[in-house]
Order: sequence, then C-alpha cells, then structure tokens
Amino acid sequence: MCGIVGYIGTADATAIIVDGLQRLEYRGYDSAGVAVLNGKGIEVRRDVGKLSNLRARVQADPIHGTLGIGHTRWATHGIPSQRNAHPHVSMAGDFVVVHNGIVENYLELREQLMAEGVNFASDTDTEVIVQLIERYAHAEVEVDFASAVRQAVRCLRGAHAIVVIHKHEPNQMIAVRIGNAGGVALGLGEGEMYVASDIPAILEHTRRMVFLESRQMALISREGYALFDLDGQPLVGDVQTIAWDPVSAAKGEYKHFMQKEIFEQPRAITDTLGGRIDFEHHRVHLPDLNLSAGHALELRRLVTVACGTSYYSGLVGKFFIEQIARLNVEVDYGSEYRYRDPIIDRQTAILAITQSGETVDTLAAMEEARDKGGTVWSIVNAFGSQAMRVADGTITMNAGPEIGVASTKAFTSSIVDQYLLAIYLGQLRGTINDEQRVALVQDASRIPALVSKALELDEQVHQLAGELYHFTDFLFVGRGLNYPIALEGALKLKEISYIHAEGYPAGEMKHGPIALIDENMPVLAIAPRDGLYEKMISQIEQAKARGGLVIAVATEGDTLIAGKADHVLYIPQTAELINPVVSVIPLQLLAYHIAVWRGADVDQPRNLAKSVTVE
Ligand code: AGP
Repeated sequence: MCGIVGYIGTADATAIIVDGLQRLEYRGYDSAGVAVLNGKGIEVRRDVGKLSNLRARVQADPIHGTLGIGHTRWATHGIPSQRNAHPHVSMAGDFVVVHNGIVENYLELREQLMAEGVNFASDTDTEVIVQLIERYAHAEVEVDFASAVRQAVRCLRGAHAIVVIHKHEPNQMIAVRIGNAGGVALGLGEGEMYVASDIPAILEHTRRMVFLESRQMALISREGYALFDLDGQPLVGDVQTIAWDPVSAAKGEYKHFMQKEIFEQPRAITDTLGGRIDFEHHRVHLPDLNLSAGHALELRRLVTVACGTSYYSGLVGKFFIEQIARLNVEVDYGSEYRYRDPIIDRQTAILAITQSGETVDTLAAMEEARDKGGTVWSIVNAFGSQAMRVADGTITMNAGPEIGVASTKAFTSSIVDQYLLAIYLGQLRGTINDEQRVALVQDASRIPALVSKALELDEQVHQLAGELYHFTDFLFVGRGLNYPIALEGALKLKEISYIHAEGYPAGEMKHGPIALIDENMPVLAIAPRDGLYEKMISQIEQAKARGGLVIAVATEGDTLIAGKADHVLYIPQTAELINPVVSVIPLQLLAYHIAVWRGADVDQPRNLAKSVTVE
C-alpha cells in the first residue's frame, strides 16, 4: 500500500512531508516523491529506491514552500522508476496529484485523453487522474478547483485515496476517498492542516484527526477543512483524538519494529483486556459490539473472514467460541468468501479480523455480508480504519501501532479479543455457568504474565536460530488449538526470511508430508501438555525415525519430551484454551532471529506491504 502525506500551513512543507513519509516506510514502497507550491509554481522531486534517496535529492536540490504533497509508491502499474514515481503533474503544469489505489479503467481514460491531445509523462494509472482534473479545469466552461476534481473522480473505477494541489490555489489542498484504498486522515493543527494515509505520519504534529469515509472529499486550507460528498453536499467531520504516543510508534531500543512488537505483547494484551473485564464480578463487557441478549440467543452461526495471520487468529478463535458460547463458527479467507455467494441470514454474524482495517479482501467480504443482511462485526487494531466504520460493532485490539510487516502483537491481541468475545457470547447465551465464567476470566488475566515468561526464551532461540538459519525448508506441525499456530509459525518464517515453510495438522503428516522428512527438513512440533500430547509425541517419534531434526515447543517440566526431540523450547503451563497465545511466542522469536541471521530486511520484507489494499 502506498503512503501519502500532505501539508498546508506556515512551516516548511518539504521537511514535514519527507519526515512523514519516513514514518510510512513500513507500508512498503519502491519510489518516493514530493511536490511543493512556492513562488515559482509547483516544484517536484522524485526518486526510486529507499526514502533516503529522495531525502538526499531534496537536500542537494532543495524545494521550499508551505503547501505540498508527498508519496511513497508500491508499484502496481508501471515499473519503479523516477518517471513513474508520484507526485504526477498535469500536462500544463497546473495540478499535481498523489494517489493510493488502482484506476481500473485507466487504459480507456488514457486513450481518450491522448486523443484529446494529452501527452503522458509516465506509464502509471495515476497520471490519468491529474490529466482529467486539468481537462475539466480548462474546459470551455471553466469550473473551479473542487468541481474539476469532483468531475474527474466521477470518471474513475476502482478504489482511491487522492490528494491534489493547484498551482493557482495557494491556500487549498483537496483530498478524496473512494472505496477502500487505504485511509485518508486529516490532521487538524493551528493555522496548518495535514493529510496522511496513516496515523503515524502526522501524529507528532497533531492528535486531532478526521478520517474520510468512502466517497467523501475534503477542501483543506490553513484555516481548517470543509467536508463534502461527491455530489457537493456538505458533511460534518467526526473529529477524533488519537491516544497513541509518537514514541511508541518508534523503535526505541529495539533493532527492528518486529522485535519491539514481539516484546510489547504483555503490554498490548494488558491493553486488549483493559476495560473489558469486571474483575469484581468476573464478567466481560463488550458494549462496542452493540449486541443485545436477544440477538445473541438468535444467532446460529458466526463466519469469521480474514487474511493471512488474521485468518489463523480466526482459526484459534473458532475453538473459543464453539466451546464457550456453543455457536457454530466457520472461518474463511476474505479473498475466497467474497466470491462464493455465501449464505447469509439474520441468524448469521460475520466477524472480520484485520489489524490494518484496510485489507481490501476482508473489507469486500464484510460488504458482501452486509449486502446480504448479516450482522457485521470487526476486530481491528488501526483506529479509525474502514473496517471499524463499516462494521455494526467493533472490538479493537488496542495493541498500539504495529509497524513491522510481519504481524505479531496484533495476532495475539486478536486472539485475546476472540477469547473475550466467546465469554461475552457465553454470558448472553447462557452457555457458561458462574464457576466456568470465573475460571475463564481468571485464565484471561494470567495471559500477560505467561507471555512475559515465554519471552525469556529469546536468548535460547537466538542461539538455536544460529544453527537453523541455513536450512531451506521447514515443517511446522500442531494439533487442535495449536494447528493454527503451526500455520502462523510457518508464515512468520517464510515472510521475513524467505525460507520455504509449511504448517500442517500433525495428524496429517502420515498422509503425505512425512515423505519430506529427512535431515534437511527441520520439524517444529508444538506439543504442550494437553489432551493431544501423546499424539504429538508419536508424531515426533515418526519424524525422528526418518532422520528428521525436531524442535519441540513443550510445557516446562516435561522431561519426557527432552528424550524425544533434538531441541526443546519450554513455555509455561497454561490453561488449554489460552495455550496458543503463549505457544506462538517462541515461533515469532525463531522467525525473527533466523531472518536476522540471514541478514533479511525484517521490517520491510521484499514483495510485501503492511496492508494489502489491492486485490
Ligand atoms: C502477517 O504477518 C502478514 N503481514 C499478512 O498475512 C497479514 O496478516 C494479512 O495481510 C492481513 O492483514 P490485516 O490483518 O491488516 O487484514
């Protein structure tokens, strides 16, 4: 997903924009640029590669002004190059645009514009936007800046986040949001205004923000903003105060954001639990779900939709909600659910799990469910994101900003949110008695300390990673609640170290994967002391019998397994249901350390972006 930053005020726009883009680095990009309006008109600086290249360029060839826009690009149309980097300037040089999203009909628009005599300077879909704006602004019947932008965006198909400035409008910047192509946040300052695709870019300047909804347009000046729909009808913005502090969005003493976020999990989970448990009565309260007892009793099915790590979180949550609330749960990928014409009725609720709140496949699944009359809930980390706005009710993760592309604290927080949801539904549906509820709530309160204890494995895992990082294939196996953790452990490893890794239900090994096992295929076996322990020991023995190298995640005090596996990573004893939140910790650490041993770009793995806002 691309990054967007804009500024209008009295300070130097270039510095504010480039610093803001730096805070969006994690979104993934291959080029960057900045445009500033000054006494000499619109000046642009762009470069490929890391943001440091753009920073060097503006230092060598400065541009100064108090109105500007900038962009980090994650190429979708047009190879990464200086000519394809944003911002893009219209042919006559009157307008400049930055854009997040895909213009699905850009080819026909490009042909139309070229037939009208427009010369394109890039291969991007974005450029058609700025040329359209200029076409309408320079039409025989001249229209004003806002009308030209409105008419231009009406021609576009797809989802877009757009910011535009006009050479002859030194006190105005326009932002537009259509569909789900990443956020558009307006930052409210004193005599200055900001716009950004994500909160961290402008949080050091202001905590007061307005988040544009789909099909909204903001006219932004030094005095403030005016909000409209695309028909020009005025709207009232919902000003929100962001609680995050800028420091927590920085790395602190950690080497990578991912490392910091792994170690923030006790704090994050404490915040996830915070304000939702009445420890005096051992009851869970989730008022933001807007769920009545009657509706809870009426429900017959919950469908969880998510992508990637969030999907694996949903697989864990299925166990909680089925066992505690006795509600049938189906878990599906957002990218699959949206195209299978799902059966939805009033007795079906949809739960979308999404850290960013902007994953297009998950958002589309939510809209599909909503269109069919289902109740739509979301579990979201990014405050103010689209998933929060589309849902009938939201349980926020409260994990704080997650910058590393590989999700860690959001994963465990989203599991804890589902544990809370299961208890809450159990309370409303009467499927748990007082004794059960008290025990479940007490188990929840122990999670932060258990996670802290598991993090003490860090040095042992660092050493172990030094012995494993040269392998090219890994198998992760687990059963029951820990099968999704095997999937997650494999995803963590492959996405940041680029090592091929597969997660598998341990019971399936004999149905194929065991053919892979030899001394070149380390097997990560998650084998806590639970009801499936004996089965896991058997799987470990099968792997060892074939020369496999077995690393077991086991319960502290389990001496038997030490004689079976080559390495053992001991985690504390936990209640069975909350074990996954703890068993994933050594796997997060292992993926992290192996990636570091391999010299990989941990926070910005190749080909990946923090939030996938395109299909
Ligand atoms: C997780 O480590 C990956 N970066 C990826 O699978 C991610 O979980 C997925 O893209 C979903 O993101 P979301 O939770 O923001 O919707």
